[in-house]
Amino acid sequence: MTEKDFIPQSNISYPKEGRIGYKAPSNIALVKYWGKKENQIPANPSVSFTLDACATRTVVTFKEKTPADEFSFDLLFEGKPKEDFKPKIETFFNRVAVYLPYLKKYHFTIDTSNSFPHSSGIASSASGMAALALCLLEIEKMADATKDDSYFDKKASFLARLGSGSACRSIKGSLVQWGKHSGLERSTNLFGVPYPHKVHEVFKTYHDTILLVHKGQKTVSSTVGHNLMNGHPYAKSRFVHAHTNLDALEAVFASGDLEKFIGIVESEALTLHAMMMSSTPYFILMMPNTLQIINAIWDYRKTTGTPICFTLDAGANVHVLYPEDYKEQSIAFIQEQLVQYCENGHYICDKVGQGAKKLNLK
Ligand code: DP6
Repeated sequence: MTEKDFIPQSNISYPKEGRIGYKAPSNIALVKYWGKKENQIPANPSVSFTLDACATRTVVTFKEKTPADEFSFDLLFEGKPKEDFKPKIETFFNRVAVYLPYLKKYHFTIDTSNSFPHSSGIASSASGMAALALCLLEIEKMADATKDDSYFDKKASFLARLGSGSACRSIKGSLVQWGKHSGLERSTNLFGVPYPHKVHEVFKTYHDTILLVHKGQKTVSSTVGHNLMNGHPYAKSRFVHAHTNLDALEAVFASGDLEKFIGIVESEALTLHAMMMSSTPYFILMMPNTLQIINAIWDYRKTTGTPICFTLDAGANVHVLYPEDYKEQSIAFIQEQLVQYCENGHYICDKVGQGAKKLNLK
């Protein structure tokens, strides 16, 4: 498929007004997307667990307006107008306008809220952009019955990617791969695809407890961080490394080899932060408590043999990953030894999920 396949035919007749809602989850990358080319094309492929509890709920109301010459929308976040989110949405509208040619026909009210606190340091752009992309695409779905669900899933992921790269992995569950990779036949830079190879049962119920080490705003945004991979001295080898890790994960996902899984996932997390520390300008997003948690996980794993590990986003918070069979002891360990490193003792229990869902609106 190419970008052109996502431009709808011009003879479709769109509804005059309507109301649509979607709930889309966040996701956590196992092989990280870090570095991009123009038009939100990733510099390397990535793969993520779709999450469940951390999600954005968005309801879009639309009504035809005249003239249809510019974008028009109101944005409500948790029921209140939120002006500072508007530029990001405006940029998104501009990027997707050619694929959703009806956007200027309507005035939209976008009413959005997160299941997790906004100031938790958890990126809401993946779930937020996925939910918005789905709502806007639903208008096309209402108007054009000739396209199947597979087309809409791909297009939703394609649109979400134009809002925030990682958002393209938040449409479907439970393991999603994004980015061209020779080992994955149907892989593409344009949208995320459900991981096409064998996945062992153990990975279908994996847990992710997110330890909120720092709830404030990040000092360097992901977008800035991605751009610093241009001309980065280790960029080339990092991109090769991501491909190698994806290849290695194929056997790991099939066999359920948790030792190898842990080795790849933790290395990916630390490599991501190593890229930040070796950018020009360099920066550090981990905090002292991030390292305390990592060391405590390593100690606990060594002494008990529990297959618990960590991964990191572009921030100080730690995602603690463990299989369903080790849930009880992992939670006990987190509560006894790790919660002390969280801001106000806050953490979120999440697990692998099945992707976005349409809301039943009354
Ligand atoms: C470290 O998707 O937030 O979480 O495309 O600029 O919106 P933009 O970046 P974003 O980057 C995510 C980076 C990451 C790794 C990952 O999720 O793969």
